[in-house]
Amino acid sequence: MKISAITLTALAIAVLFSANCFGQTGTSTIKDRKWWKEAVVYQIYPRSFKDNNGDGVGDLKGIISKLDYIKSLGVDVVWLNPIYSSPNDDNGYDVSDYRNIMSDFGTMDDFNTMLKGMHDRGIKLVMDLVVNHSSDEHEWFKQSRSSRTSPYREYYHWWNAENGKPPYRYSLFDINHDAWRYDSLTNAYYLHYFSRKQPDLNWENPKVRQEVYGIMKFWADKGIDGFRMDAFQYAAKDTTFPAFPKGFERNFNQYYGMVPNLHGYLQQMNKEVLSRYNVMSVAEGAGNTYEDAHNMVDAGRHELNMAYAFDGVGIARSKGYSLLHFKAVFSKWDSVFAEKGWVSIFLANHDQARLVSRFGNPTPAFRDLSSKMLTTFILTMRGTPYYYNGDELGMTNPGFTKIEDYRDVQTLNEYHHQQNIGSDMTVFMKEIAFSSRDNGRTPFQWDGSKNAGFTTGTPWIKVNPNYTVINAAKEEEDPNSCLNYFRKAIKLRKDNLALVYGKYTLLDKSNPNVYAYTREMNGKKLLILLNFSNTAAKAATTYNGANAKLLLNNYDNKVVNALSKVNTELRPYEAVIYQLQ
Ligand code: GLC
Repeated sequence: MKISAITLTALAIAVLFSANCFGQTGTSTIKDRKWWKEAVVYQIYPRSFKDNNGDGVGDLKGIISKLDYIKSLGVDVVWLNPIYSSPNDDNGYDVSDYRNIMSDFGTMDDFNTMLKGMHDRGIKLVMDLVVNHSSDEHEWFKQSRSSRTSPYREYYHWWNAENGKPPYRYSLFDINHDAWRYDSLTNAYYLHYFSRKQPDLNWENPKVRQEVYGIMKFWADKGIDGFRMDAFQYAAKDTTFPAFPKGFERNFNQYYGMVPNLHGYLQQMNKEVLSRYNVMSVAEGAGNTYEDAHNMVDAGRHELNMAYAFDGVGIARSKGYSLLHFKAVFSKWDSVFAEKGWVSIFLANHDQARLVSRFGNPTPAFRDLSSKMLTTFILTMRGTPYYYNGDELGMTNPGFTKIEDYRDVQTLNEYHHQQNIGSDMTVFMKEIAFSSRDNGRTPFQWDGSKNAGFTTGTPWIKVNPNYTVINAAKEEEDPNSCLNYFRKAIKLRKDNLALVYGKYTLLDKSNPNVYAYTREMNGKKLLILLNFSNTAAKAATTYNGANAKLLLNNYDNKVVNALSKVNTELRPYEAVIYQLQ
């Protein structure tokens, strides 16, 4: 083909346009650019974010009142935990009407206003879609339960009792860890992988799948920008319910996760819904193998956009964790998606205790530093960062000592279970003070006023007493606060697409205290040095030369020899980012 001047001009315009449009030059060669890869996702737990009407529960009007704050963070996407009608056995993860708003949270008008407010500010909204199970108060389940011949019977998994007890299935939230619940009304057991009030939907039934696609279209037509598929790796099941080997529950994911039909269902969902809208999709969980995860998000297979794998977040233990293990896990996940597919990067969410309490050091000497160091990690890895509300302030676990302070169905049912089997409850109480999901669900600390400015009423769960010290109002005023560091780190990611797409290379692999890596793309190379320990540590990297430019440092941007030479001596929990070329 002869290239004409017009074609050349068009090409030049295209290159210019791509540079201008994304604000950076040298980016035109990036393949498969997508908005959801470049986005930073901010997760809001609506129950605990901001209460507008004084009933002690966060609500949509509360979120609306904080949209400017959310915008000021520099995030692109909000992921909202479920806001649908629900009896709240599991704080909204038990949906009784998928097309309505939970009364605690407000109305559909509030939702419309919130969505518009987000879009007006250039923020996208991802909704949680909870369809592995519904609430037992959903009309489908009420019908299903009512008779063996109900047209809704096959919407759920039933096992007739005249066939004996069904083969054991482990339940994550049940007091007896038993996922089969006997129901005398029709003399049958129903299946619930989570609580008794969360019966599992029967995805093998095509009608159920069509119902779900209808629900997804309902929300996508309203203009939302994506779905987070809750517990979806468990949705497909072998409905013959074969017996599993004794002790399978210790590794139940291997049996429950990614049963082969799931990929077919995802492809169908993609064809019928996802591909028809400009929405992103992320599955909670990523199956049992890297191959599973990869298959789910390989663009050529037309399933989902990104995997949300637990290997990383699961590493933290009350006794501490090994940085070598941590590095190995994140490096492995990076390599799996190096060529195809995409992953999420996160260390906290509403199912985990607080970021700094689990992975950092919440003591007064190191809370601020270690929290910023972890933020640096999350925002400099390849993958889409998911950041949980309150972590930008360095909020910590509340240190509950009484079971009465807890609200979470999983924690409370496990407490009763351990009590019933005669466990040492002192040990259990210590364990949940470290790991219970409620640790991450205490109200957002807005300011130093009563209840941290979260509510004028009685909060549904206690406010962390440290709110007078750790709160957004205070951090706004301090240019070196965790909050302002989070903003800087986001800005840095936005200004350096190498942090989004660039090649990741682990350095000094066997260093037990320092996580060092580079990210590089189109001739630009960034070096990230993170000291995960409470003592000084040295990174053995080969980058001791000149020409390094300091881009970010969590010690108030004061690094020795900042502009001339990479300093590999790191202070406790120090985080540094250099540009090398
Ligand atoms: C997911 C949610 C969790 C919920 C569970 C059951 O793991 O993240 O909060 O309890 O699914 O829906």
